Amino acid sequence: MSTPSVLITGAGIGIGAACAEAFAAAGYRTVLTDVLHDEGEAVAARLRDAGHDAVFRPLDVTDTAAVTAVVAETEGEGYDAVVANAGIVRRRGFTELDDAEWSRTLDVDLHGEMRVFRAAVPAMVRRGSGSLVALSSVSGAALGWAEHVHYSAAKAGVIGLARALAVELGPHGIRANALAPGFVRTGQSLDVVNSMGEDALRDSVSAIPLRRVGEPADIADVALFLASPAARYVTGQVVVVDGGLLVQQR
Ligand SMILES: NC(=O)c1ccc[n+]([C@@H]2O[C@H](COP(=O)([O-])OP(=O)(O)OC[C@H]3O[C@@H](n4cnc5c(N)ncnc54)[C@H](O)[C@@H]3O)[C@@H](O)[C@H]2O)c1
Repeated sequence: MSTPSVLITGAGIGIGAACAEAFAAAGYRTVLTDVLHDEGEAVAARLRDAGHDAVFRPLDVTDTAAVTAVVAETEGEGYDAVVANAGIVRRRGFTELDDAEWSRTLDVDLHGEMRVFRAAVPAMVRRGSGSLVALSSVSGAALGWAEHVHYSAAKAGVIGLARALAVELGPHGIRANALAPGFVRTGQSLDVVNSMGEDALRDSVSAIPLRRVGEPADIADVALFLASPAARYVTGQVVVVDGGLLVQQR
């Protein structure tokens, strides 16, 4: 059997970097991409030093031509898995939310995922298999998040993207699932201006049945499962990974 391959966006830090570690450790040829060149290259170098097959390519997921070029250059006979993880979050009250900020968030968080899937799917169709993992959020799956209407709309859109792709691509042997993390300790969630910050993260623990904030590896392991043959009959689903946050009775 040939070595499986994965493309990961936003792989320089946070959940994306943890996905790179998890897929590499599982024996995947791992292609890391990010707008953060130094961070992405450092993760890839660390994986190579550990004996894994890993490369980094600079990639801004808002650039259609660049997405297409990076996928074409790296996909070989077609990716086994694509993890669309790159994302941004900006706090903005609804009445202050101008068109530019709305569009910017949708462009990265929703359109960016669509672009990378669209580039990778033709080769997956030719080989008759593939798995698409789309990072959503509990804010797209179930929760409303004040001052984050644009983010919540994008992350809900990701779920529609995964469901529709599951139906359209299932006959070609391609699965598509949305992965919805709860509160995970990363640069994004620790950003007190645009997201929760350290204090709010700590305060959230009492609402989480497992009594801890998630770590990037908690999400990466589920992304790896969704990409793997162990999830061969799972498609069109929203897999919530939140320590029980959404089912906690308040
Ligand atoms: N951390 C959480 O609690 C949490 C919760 C739910 C969902 N998520 C989602 O998980 C994903 C990863 O989040 P994270 O917490 O690791 O965030 P993070 O900020 O730590 O990492 C995000 C990554 O995306 C990259 N990125 C941003 N804009 C990009 C662009 N235009 N092109 C390419 N890469 C770009 C960043 O450079 C960074 O590497 C995001 O989609 C996020 O919305 C995170």
